[in-house]
Amino acid sequence: MNTTPRIGDPVNRFDGEAKVTGSARYAAEHFPPGLLYGWIVSSPIARGRVTGIEEAAARAVSGVVAVISHRNRRHLPWLDRSYKDEQAASGSPFRPLFDDKILFSGQPLALVVAQTLEAARDGASLIGFSYERATHNTDFERALAEQFKPKSLRNKVLAPHSRGEPDQAIKRSPVRHSATYRHGAQHHNPMEMHAATAIWEPGDRLTVYDKTQGTQNVQSYLAKVFGLKEDHVRVRSEFVGGAFGSGLRPQYHVFLAALAAIMLQRPVRVGMTRQQMFTHVYRPPALLTVALGAGSDGSLNAIINTATHTSSRFERYTQIVANWGLTHYKCPNASGSYTLAPVDTCTPGDMRAPGAATGVNLFEIAMDELAYASGVDPLALRLVNYTDKDAMYGRPYTSKALREALQAGAERFGWAARLPAPRSMHEGRELVGWGMATGVGEAPFEKTAARVRLAADGALEVACAMTDIGTGTATVMAQVAGDTLGVPLERIRVQLGDSALPEAPVEGGSWGAASAGAAVHQACRTLAAQLHHIAGKMTPSPIADASFEEVEFDDGHMMVRSQPAQRVSLANLVRASGKDCIEAEQVAKPDLSGVADKVLKAKYTHSAVFAEVKIDDELPIVRVTRVVIAVAAGRIINPKTARSQVIGGAVMAIGMALHEEAVMDHRLGRFMTHNFADYHIPVNADIPQIEVIFVDEPDTEVSPLGVKGVGEIGVVGTAAAVVNAIHHATGQRVRSLPVTVDKLLGQAQA
Ligand code: MOS
Repeated sequence: MNTTPRIGDPVNRFDGEAKVTGSARYAAEHFPPGLLYGWIVSSPIARGRVTGIEEAAARAVSGVVAVISHRNRRHLPWLDRSYKDEQAASGSPFRPLFDDKILFSGQPLALVVAQTLEAARDGASLIGFSYERATHNTDFERALAEQFKPKSLRNKVLAPHSRGEPDQAIKRSPVRHSATYRHGAQHHNPMEMHAATAIWEPGDRLTVYDKTQGTQNVQSYLAKVFGLKEDHVRVRSEFVGGAFGSGLRPQYHVFLAALAAIMLQRPVRVGMTRQQMFTHVYRPPALLTVALGAGSDGSLNAIINTATHTSSRFERYTQIVANWGLTHYKCPNASGSYTLAPVDTCTPGDMRAPGAATGVNLFEIAMDELAYASGVDPLALRLVNYTDKDAMYGRPYTSKALREALQAGAERFGWAARLPAPRSMHEGRELVGWGMATGVGEAPFEKTAARVRLAADGALEVACAMTDIGTGTATVMAQVAGDTLGVPLERIRVQLGDSALPEAPVEGGSWGAASAGAAVHQACRTLAAQLHHIAGKMTPSPIADASFEEVEFDDGHMMVRSQPAQRVSLANLVRASGKDCIEAEQVAKPDLSGVADKVLKAKYTHSAVFAEVKIDDELPIVRVTRVVIAVAAGRIINPKTARSQVIGGAVMAIGMALHEEAVMDHRLGRFMTHNFADYHIPVNADIPQIEVIFVDEPDTEVSPLGVKGVGEIGVVGTAAAVVNAIHHATGQRVRSLPVTVDKLLGQAQA
């Protein structure tokens, strides 16, 4: 039986069994001897200063070992640069327990450390603070008056690039539409909450099991902050229970765990509660004002796209928001602007498809409105305005099969049967709505190293520091290695999520499969060449002196492609080398892999999304009943794990469209919806049948394996398709997400 995995096979999740059986251990599931537990005490006020800490009662709790605050912490550096991580925003990074200043509600003010979690929690509840309050503002609408241009807007990637004369072109256009769209703050709600187990070892060594998307990012951060040698800090994150961007930057829990472990010279675990998960990184609430001018056939003459979202007052968190609308459609006149509004919260951060989830979803609602204004079918409108070049810079795409995706998705959904008028489709007493949108997102490929090691028994070990945040990176690594060296999956071991392994970026931005896949592939090709060299030295030659180009790898063997009987097992080759194992390490990076210069070609993943909703006309509770997403994402290494990624993204988009909003009490400056009763994430009953189609999209330029990545595309466009379907069902256009029942009840029927 041939069990060699091939690129393109729907291979089962490599780490599935460990996860399902519970043998996979997460950051808070490591129990070193002598482990202490930390409980974080969070600030109840949004801005001001701590003037006193009453900690006697906490210290008196049996089992409490320490109360750590800014008053008694060990030495910490004060320069911003010591706290900058590889994903840092511009500005001053937050420094936990640094001084008496309070910058946001939920800021950690103290850590109570005890022999048990219960004692730590009990102690934490007895800490008393006195404060001096300062005026805060957490209201986005009020912050707009204070908006500031992000410094990094000088960076061309972020700055909208204008063309033509959009103001005049809109005036001349027979069809015009302008409106402002918004969505609220959204929080990451991974199943695994942020936690770290920090172990201080003799010789000033620190090992930390952390829930993070980037082991080496946390490693260098901890080394800088605590003045340790980088190679004395090891960060491990082999299993991650979801992250979606909340683990890109080191979070305060890992700082606190490491600080306590170093101060107490004991292992310390610190985890966030679900409530505390609402006190760090969130998708910032955003406004997008769109003005469109078009011909009577719907062809765009002008686009003006203005985007604003919040950032903290101390850091300027940026994402690409306004540019998407200027890039995605053919249009001679276009301009945009992008600004931030400062609020007194923690710094917002990346959340699945940061920027595109905001900028594309909101823009695609405006495009639906243009379809109605011009009387053109929404699908036809996308085709009328289809561009074969990135419209903002005029760069050709490395590939773009969006046309094929639109066609495949429409066909599967049955879009042709749609009656165009709102409120024209019914089923019983329910209104039926069909909406669509397109999605677009970046397809990045990042410098990544991988090492492969073949043992004398034929077992293959594949190693890379990248984490697998649930996306299937381990599976992709195993599959690429198995395919390249012809090794069955059962003989492959994947090591990842460990800062001691070959260098990798954080896992995020949909670059995991393209980058780790390329690195593993190149390391395996190097190893293959070494094996071929060994075969060439054997007498008689087991491969009949075939050249490297003439051999292939399958089922644990190297063989001559034209005469597969001429073969030798990989195990025999290792033994013939006289070594215990054969090893190769390679770095895959954009400039060495023949990839087109980023500036010359646009690298994007696209999707076409079709959604059906059913809504009771009297009590307008929206049920999404069907979603079809057709994705053009280059080569799909594993259609099974890729499909899961797209479905996961679509679920988050349904949350964005209908349920998710972190609501702030501006008097307190605090997110009040900090639990799953109040912050609604979609549950099984909210999720319909989601069909995913991958259209063919050969691409030799986007990344070495032709992979674009699918971690984020599912969220882009899908929220818009749902909102557009609601309009089609009800005739009501809600421009503020999530579209909750109160908004539908509060609007007159259009
Ligand atoms: Mo993603 S927002 O880069 O985890």
